[in-house]
Amino acid sequence: MDAIISLCKRRGFAFQSSEIYGGLGGFFDYGPLGCALKKNIKDFWWREMVQLRENVVGLDSSVIGGSKMWEASGHVAGFSDPMVDCRESGMRYRADQLFFSPVAISGKTICHLSILDSPQMEEDALAMARSLLKKRGESAAPDKLRLRPIAEATAEELRQIPSPATGTIGALTAPRAFNLMFRTSIGAVSDASATAYLRPETAQGIFVNFQNVLASSRLKLPFGIGQIGKAFRNEITPRNFLFRMREFEQMELEYFIDPDADWCRIHGEWVESRLAWYRSIGIGDKFLGKEVHAQEKLAHYARACTDITFRYPFGVCELEGIAARGDFDLRCHSAASGKALDYFDGDKHFMPHVIEPSAGVDRVFLAVLCAAYGEDEIGGERRTLLRLDPKIAPVKVAVLPLLKNRNDLLQLSREIFLKLRRRWNAVWDSSGAIGRRYRRMDEIGTPLAVTVDFESLENGSVTMRFRDSAEQVRLSIGELESAIGNLVDWK
Ligand code: GLY
Repeated sequence: MDAIISLCKRRGFAFQSSEIYGGLGGFFDYGPLGCALKKNIKDFWWREMVQLRENVVGLDSSVIGGSKMWEASGHVAGFSDPMVDCRESGMRYRADQLFFSPVAISGKTICHLSILDSPQMEEDALAMARSLLKKRGESAAPDKLRLRPIAEATAEELRQIPSPATGTIGALTAPRAFNLMFRTSIGAVSDASATAYLRPETAQGIFVNFQNVLASSRLKLPFGIGQIGKAFRNEITPRNFLFRMREFEQMELEYFIDPDADWCRIHGEWVESRLAWYRSIGIGDKFLGKEVHAQEKLAHYARACTDITFRYPFGVCELEGIAARGDFDLRCHSAASGKALDYFDGDKHFMPHVIEPSAGVDRVFLAVLCAAYGEDEIGGERRTLLRLDPKIAPVKVAVLPLLKNRNDLLQLSREIFLKLRRRWNAVWDSSGAIGRRYRRMDEIGTPLAVTVDFESLENGSVTMRFRDSAEQVRLSIGELESAIGNLVDWK
């Protein structure tokens, strides 16, 4: 993970927000290459989920929504995480990520450990318990400490648990619900009627526009409304780089179905379809998985949910959730607004049910980088490379004059570059030895490099080098565009 974070900063994929002011926790900015890669991921999702599906249309709804809407959706009352505070340091933790375990010797509790739920911290906690036992001359170390979530701790136990921030025993508060929405107010008056929220999911903008879209299009069930946009959650513990941020971006599709349809089958088909999409952007099966949510872990609106997971360096985590929301949302908004959000089919009218594939753009971005990252040796030289699928690579082709002190090479290579960049994101680079220039391109995942050399001046041919194999072929300048198109264009 450290190598990927460092590459992101060095080559301009992602930076900590407000870094010059010490950074803003849980916020990141995308640099020149990052925003190009992110745009390609979003465009490819839109193409596959909206453009190529006759029964799916797009939407772009407001980021800020009034309190009536968020009360009706259940988010004001129910969109929260349990939180504990360290009274001493002011640090906050998610109660479901904090565990404790009594370390006992001869039946007597000698201390409680507190840890966060990462495998590394669990290891550290076990090591600490073993060393405590050793210090006290006990030979039998516990083979396994039973870790319990802090939410289960009794008041007595809570008084004995050390704060993970300061180590002070008893500094943690009891868990309480913390709403994850960012609140703001609209207009000059800031009374309760002006209260509004930054959306924690793009989905609600789709539900409240259900009738508008239906009335203005000729859609018949089943049909979908897709949206890509920013969402905001005031996470208690943002972490793992771009994985859990407070401002992030979603790609969501609300797929409306007849309530009598076999929703289990349709849900399963969406899971498979979304897995195929991840494979199509170069994420191999060895990284992908599926996880069915237990009933007690479902969000307030869901009756079932399957996550598509990715094996990140910090663990297997959710990339996308595919939820069955039933008619929860349309029913809530219809009741609160007094508007009928029904679908008419002949003389039948009813509220459709919904299947929702919901992906996090930033999580896909990070997954794509993790899957593509590699280091190898080419011609006796070490290199770092991103084996990005050409479809989403931020730069498709580099045009390189062999030498920089030859005007004829510079001129011809500029001509080629100016032509290619009309179709693709291309770069022109003349500085440094050619090997170094290839490696700079490998490191940002550019699939192709075109080199203009002396033979190019004589017979109008250039070399095309492939990133992964470092092999080169010679072809005429006239063949270049169709050869590049065959390799990088979306089919
Ligand atoms: N709309 C589902 C989610 O935001 O998780």
